[in-house]
Amino acid sequence: MARVPLLAGNWKMHGTRAEATALAGALAKSVGTVSGREVLIAPPYTALEAARQAIAGTCILLGAQNVHGEPKGAFTGEIGAAMLVEAGCTHVIVGHSERRQYFGETDESVNARIRGALAANLVPIVCVGETLAEREAGTTAAIIERQVRGGLAGLDAAVGRCVMAYEPVWAIGTGRTATPAHAQDVHKAIRGLLAALAGAAVANNVRILYGGSVKPDNVDALMAEADIDGALVGGASLDAASFTRIVQYQESR
Ligand code: PGA
Repeated sequence: MARVPLLAGNWKMHGTRAEATALAGALAKSVGTVSGREVLIAPPYTALEAARQAIAGTCILLGAQNVHGEPKGAFTGEIGAAMLVEAGCTHVIVGHSERRQYFGETDESVNARIRGALAANLVPIVCVGETLAEREAGTTAAIIERQVRGGLAGLDAAVGRCVMAYEPVWAIGTGRTATPAHAQDVHKAIRGLLAALAGAAVANNVRILYGGSVKPDNVDALMAEADIDGALVGGASLDAASFTRIVQYQESR
């Protein structure tokens, strides 16, 4: 299996510096030397430095939760990719559904942010996913296709430098997880879209994470699916024991 699984914790707007030190410190002990899989935490900007110090010398990677497309400028409240690199980040989440839903992000702004990340050698974790209404209307495939094609427009081979995340909006923070079979279907479709954009060889190397109520008790079944290459975990990543168990998912494929 060429694709190294990635287990990523999206802390969202949770974590003072003290809390980040405690949580990241606990993870440094529990999964700081894990092999065969990558582990990443994405704290709020203000806790990046505390987290960075707590995971120093471990294999745990640091990510941010958003990035602007431009490296610098008059964009109050935004942050540039090089600033995140300086803060110790190697990855950044882009186009999370909460950004799309509450902060007006579009496929175009997501595309610009991905480009900004790639220009600074940050790995973008590009989130796509349908809402409940879209799912019930039977438009999941069309929505995913629009988000993938729009978000990755013009990137060509640089698609291979991205990580994708399928996060059905109806499963985020709701306790409703997609069934492994549903997630696998969408992941396979995403890989097909990546192949259409950048060729099968590139598509086969891109990790596609699943996100949406991933917990210790469902991660094993999700990770058993052929095209699920990791997890983007919200709520359960805020608890050291839960996230540790998710990182230590049992292989069965
Ligand atoms: P959740 O969030 O695990 O709390 O559902 C996932 C996410 O939004 O990335």
